[in-house]
Amino acid sequence: MILSLACSAPVQVYLVPAPRELQILGSGGTTDEPELISAETGLGPEGYVLEVGRRSASITAEGPAGLFYGQQTLSQLEQRPRVLIRDEPLYSWRGSMIDVARHFFTVEELKGHIDLMALHKLNRLHLHLTDDQGWRLQILSWPQLTTVGGSTEVGGGPGGFYTQEDYRELVAYAAERFITVVPEVDMPGHCNAALASYGELNPSGQPTELYTGTDVGFSSLWLGDETTLRFVEEVLTEVAGLTPGPWVHVGADEAHETDPQEYKAFLQAVQPTLSGLDKTLVGWDEVASAELPEPYVLQWWRSEDNALDGASQGASIIASPAEHAYLDMAYDGSSDLGGFWAGFTDLEDAYTWDVVPAGVPPEAVLGLEAPLWSELPETWEEVEYLVWPRLAGHAELAWTGSRGWEDYRPRLEAHLQRLDALGVAYADEL
Ligand code: ACM
Repeated sequence: MILSLACSAPVQVYLVPAPRELQILGSGGTTDEPELISAETGLGPEGYVLEVGRRSASITAEGPAGLFYGQQTLSQLEQRPRVLIRDEPLYSWRGSMIDVARHFFTVEELKGHIDLMALHKLNRLHLHLTDDQGWRLQILSWPQLTTVGGSTEVGGGPGGFYTQEDYRELVAYAAERFITVVPEVDMPGHCNAALASYGELNPSGQPTELYTGTDVGFSSLWLGDETTLRFVEEVLTEVAGLTPGPWVHVGADEAHETDPQEYKAFLQAVQPTLSGLDKTLVGWDEVASAELPEPYVLQWWRSEDNALDGASQGASIIASPAEHAYLDMAYDGSSDLGGFWAGFTDLEDAYTWDVVPAGVPPEAVLGLEAPLWSELPETWEEVEYLVWPRLAGHAELAWTGSRGWEDYRPRLEAHLQRLDALGVAYADEL
């Protein structure tokens, strides 16, 4: 007689991001819809408890975001093992940035991205809406920003823009998935698309040429001029009106053509304009030189010293160091696409780095964000190749913290099958 051994293979669970606490109780969990329970968990507004038993499943959370994240976790448990998961995020800012200015991407493409962000428990979509090469958000009081400034992109393609209706739809779609859209209007540099749209924004009275190259740091608003100041106020008022979230990003990076004193005075004027609109200013790390009073948010991309200066001024910090978080960098020397000015960023580099800049108190750090600049990718497939699966690593770093490459790698390998099933054009670099 042959005895078949009853010992089944150990149940494995491959979750990305990993939950804070996971107990695998065995196989054979119910595939019924879970009961959703609103109750105290001690896990904060985004935390949840997920229990899958043989006959019943439940998600308990203090609010709708936690219930949503519990469902995202459950959606990754294909075999429905019996589990008990207690989970909550490490950081409140878990972001992805897409540059829609250098190349334009459609609302539908961004909605697909929002769905993937939700699967990874990311909660901030930063849209880089304006730059030298394009202005992508309709501004009713300055319509040529999009009709002229949105009419091209890097390489001379047709560009494009979002009507305010498009944009509202996108913001609402994100909000249904607990993602806050953070709009960026880059100023006082990176603004040629605006200068090309309106002659009166230039000292010559003439519009500049539209720009389709990839240089940076060559344009500046004409600060101190009354028309420019009215332009800034009207644009920020419309952008704030389209923004239910508390943040408006004003870029403030690489303003090499702006006089440093004027730069400082300008940002010191923009900040109260935004607070009058009930918005908190966010800027790239150069904004530290403006010595703004708190509250403001500094996005560290290049200089830890700037991050440290900002933190000492009371700023909250978002970590996006280019060498680990910039998704337009190539994976390695054999990558099909990507730059390397910040070095190659392989999957391990994207996942294992210190989110807290040296010397900054950890409590000043809101979290992290992975920017995708679009000088190089021209199509959405190229964007997906650069973003995925690296952004899965950033998502786990933000939600759980790094568990180390050896722990992450096999879970990611299983996770790639999910991305395959979803039709994501990720880079197969493992
Ligand atoms: C940046 O990469 N210029 C923020």
